[in-house]
Amino acid sequence: MINLIKAPIEKELENYEEFARKAIRSEEPLLNSILDYVFENKGKSLRPMLVLLSAGMHSASPAAGLGKRAYLAAMLIEMIHTASLIHDDVIDESDTRRGHPSVNARWKSRNAVLTGDYILARNMQAGLESGQYDLLTYVSRAMGELCEGELSQSDHSARVEMTRRDYTDIIYKKTAVLIGSAAALGALAVGAGKEAVSRMRRFGDYLGMAFQIKDDILDYTGIDIGKPVGNDLREKKITLPLLALLEKCGPERREELTALLRETDSRPENVETLRRTVIEEGGIETARQVMQEYVQKAVALLADYPHSHYRTSLATLCSYVAEREK
Ligand code: IPE
Ligand code: IPE
Ligand code: MG
Ligand code: MG
Ligand code: MG
Repeated sequence: MINLIKAPIEKELENYEEFARKAIRSEEPLLNSILDYVFENKGKSLRPMLVLLSAGMHSASPAAGLGKRAYLAAMLIEMIHTASLIHDDVIDESDTRRGHPSVNARWKSRNAVLTGDYILARNMQAGLESGQYDLLTYVSRAMGELCEGELSQSDHSARVEMTRRDYTDIIYKKTAVLIGSAAALGALAVGAGKEAVSRMRRFGDYLGMAFQIKDDILDYTGIDIGKPVGNDLREKKITLPLLALLEKCGPERREELTALLRETDSRPENVETLRRTVIEEGGIETARQVMQEYVQKAVALLADYPHSHYRTSLATLCSYVAEREK
């Protein structure tokens, strides 16, 4: 499925990667090794795909090539994502990423923090030197919101408390904003008007919400996802599958379940108990329904575009987000 999605932008993805690799390198030996490792073990590249597909769909002459602004936009977004994952594994004390030891597991947290910072710094430098301030302004805002989302999540985990509103706000800030920015930035990079940029922003925001809900589901049901399963519960994170269950049970049972979550440090077996309870009592199903609603809202926003390979790929990307197994 992912190859189908990529088909209209194969060459553009290669161009973007070359662009990013050149902008983010270092002569410092340790940093150089870590950067090689990070680039060799890249992820699904969904965000640059989204940038380039959106750019293609809004470009007046996509066949003539998308131009440097589109590659810069793809890099700005994916490097923020890459740095945020390196930092995320420090924050979540996670030892595996993309099927390999996380940077913090292999080189220690202090080196992971600095590598993430370095990627962000070089990324911003590339944006500044190219003079594309509109793109930079857009992504700088997304970076701030991502940090706010992560901090809010950390605060709620420490208190073992979460409402549906908190959850929605957290996943919007930590994940959807960057995905929404990817879709919007693609359009902006090729000179689309305000209305199109804002439509793509909404498209990406919905897709991003669905994306994080799916990620939260996979933390319960995943088999070979390249990162630890059950990590959210270990970190006392109440995500939608558990939240949906807590919402429908009475106060006593709710207290019982949150007590299990509070004690996962001294009783690691609670993670598996909670995981099974959530799966057996329909938490996944409810989360899946909410995810599907977001996917449908995203797909609906593509309806007014004329038929093109780009539009087809964006629609397939929506199905992929819901169906993916990693
Ligand atoms: C993982 O994102 C982090 C979330 C926002 C849920 P991806 O699943 O896109 O990670 P990679 O880049 O493919 O590894
Ligand atoms: C999303 O949250 C991460 C970021 C927005 C950086 P997770 O912590 O759930 O991401 P994974 O599951 O570790 O990839
Ligand atoms: Mg996290
Ligand atoms: Mg994590
Ligand atoms: Mg996760």
